[in-house]
This record gives sequence, structure tokens and C-alpha cells, in this order.
Amino acid sequence: MEVITTVQEMQQKANALRAAGRTIALVPTMGFLHEGHLELMRAGKQNADNLVISIFVNPTQFGPGEDLDRYPRDTPGDLQKARDVGVDIVFLPSAPEMYPAGFQTRVQVQHLPQHLCGLSRPGHFDGVATVVTKLFNITKPHIAVFGQKDYQQLAVISRMVMDLDMDVQIIGVPIVREPDGLAMSSRNSYLSPEERRSALCLKKSIDLAHRMFQHGERRADSILEAVRTLVEDHPFTNIDYVALCDPVTLDNLKILKQENLLALAVRVGNTRLIDNSILREGSNP
Ligand code: PAJ
Repeated sequence: MEVITTVQEMQQKANALRAAGRTIALVPTMGFLHEGHLELMRAGKQNADNLVISIFVNPTQFGPGEDLDRYPRDTPGDLQKARDVGVDIVFLPSAPEMYPAGFQTRVQVQHLPQHLCGLSRPGHFDGVATVVTKLFNITKPHIAVFGQKDYQQLAVISRMVMDLDMDVQIIGVPIVREPDGLAMSSRNSYLSPEERRSALCLKKSIDLAHRMFQHGERRADSILEAVRTLVEDHPFTNIDYVALCDPVTLDNLKILKQENLLALAVRVGNTRLIDNSILREGSNP
């Protein structure tokens, strides 16, 4: 496994692979790798000859007062996990390598970020779209793999790739959960044992919403109300949003349809957790 830290060297390597007729899969990450990230890597390996991952805690997608400074990091552990899963190249740039003095460009998707996480994290998806565009231009992938855990991020990236004719195929991978249902996240490491127990309210409320939907409930308000009550019954929780929306436009729904996105963001102590699920007619979670 090669570790590359400069843009120039990574571009030269990607050009050489392409010239040799090899296909490239990219898995962008912010590190502190867990089984969710590794699942993306396995999907990348299955769909291309060479697997590149990036590890970069991207400052432009963090707002003032967010957790940029304390975001968990473990480069030696990450490199070991990447090696074990069969990654070929780790792109591990510094912040000045990605954003040298004078940097002044932003990629902005217009409407999809005006929902869900975009409302509580202004500018977040501009930072994500910008860094992902840069990572595509640096690693030159044929395919790129993203998790459905960050549903809105996957929607924004897919839209950007379509709108800007980027020649990259986007693959989405289902949410990987802990045995008790908590969606895996690097940020779970912030939770105290008591908070960790309360954090189960996200998956529990998704399960409740599925049961209500399968029993025929189609009023968004009554499902949202039940979800809010369940979350608020757990200590340390503070709801950022709970939404039922169209899975493509992310517009809020009043009456549910065949396919609906339930998305929620809940602060547990100081840790902001997100989760989501599709409520679909005729299927269980
Ligand atoms: P990060 O939070 O490290 O996540 C990297 C990728 O792993 C994302 O595509 C995310 O959706 C996926 N992922 C995280 N937890 C997952 C889980 N439990 N199941 C399935 N997939 C999961 O998302 C980012 O980094 C950044 O915004 C990035 C795209 C790297 C741009 O900076």
C-alpha cells in the first residue's frame, strides 16, 4: 500500500494507472475509520482494479463552533485498517496542500442543501462539494463510493456529478450499524456510556416509524410527533430536526407516498448524530 501526501504525486500516479488501462475507485473519508468506511472500500474494490482512499479532515465543511479541532484522528490505526482491507493507495494530504494561500473557489449545489443538515450547518455542503471535486480532480477515479448514512451528502454529490458532467460513477452503500442498531460514525467516540445508551433512540425511532407506516399511517405529522416523543423520552437528547421528505428533492411531505425519506439529526450531549431510512410500501427496514 502506498501513502501519497502531495497533489502532484497523486495526479501522476492516477495518470499512470489510467494509461496502463486500470480503473480507479475512490473512497473519500475523514479518517478514524470504522466498519462503515471499510464496507465502502470493499464495494470500491469490487468495482475497480485499483482502490484509492483519501483521509482528510476537510476544514471548509466545518462551521464556526463545530468540532474541527477535536475531530477524532488515528492515522496509524487507519493505515493498518486500510492495509487489511486491501487499499492500494492512501491519499493523505495536509490542509495547506489542499488549500494553499490564495485559494478562493467554491462549488455550490443550489437547492438540495436548503434542507435537513444544510439548514443547521450553513455552508457545509459547499465545503463538501468543493473538496469532493478537488479529490476527483486529484485521484481521477472512474467510480467513487459514498455511504447512505450521509443521505443528503450522497444526493448533493450525485446532483453535482450530473450537473457538471463529471465522468465519475457514484455508488451508494447502505448504512452499517453496530449490533444494537446505532449507525456507525467516527463521532460515536465522543459519547459517554450513558449518552451511548440514549443514542439508540435514533434507530428506535426509525423502527417505530416503519411500524406506523406498515400499519397504514400516511400522515407525516403523526409519525413525526411519535418520533419526537420517543427521542425526547431519552436523556441528554436535543432534536436538531426530524423530517419526512421526498427522497429525490428532499422537500418535506405532508402525506406520505410510496417512497419516503425519514431523516433525523439529534444532539446527544454535545455530539450531533444523524440517521435515516427509506419508508417504502411493501418493505421492512
Ligand atoms: P466521513 O464522515 O469520514 O465518511 C466517509 C464516508 O463514509 C461517507 O461517504 C459516509 O457516508 C460513509 N459512512 C460513514 N459512516 C457510515 C456508516 N455507518 N455506514 C455506511 N457508510 C458510512 O463524509 C465524509 O467523511 C466527508 O464529508 C467527505 C465525503 C470525506 C468529504 O470531506
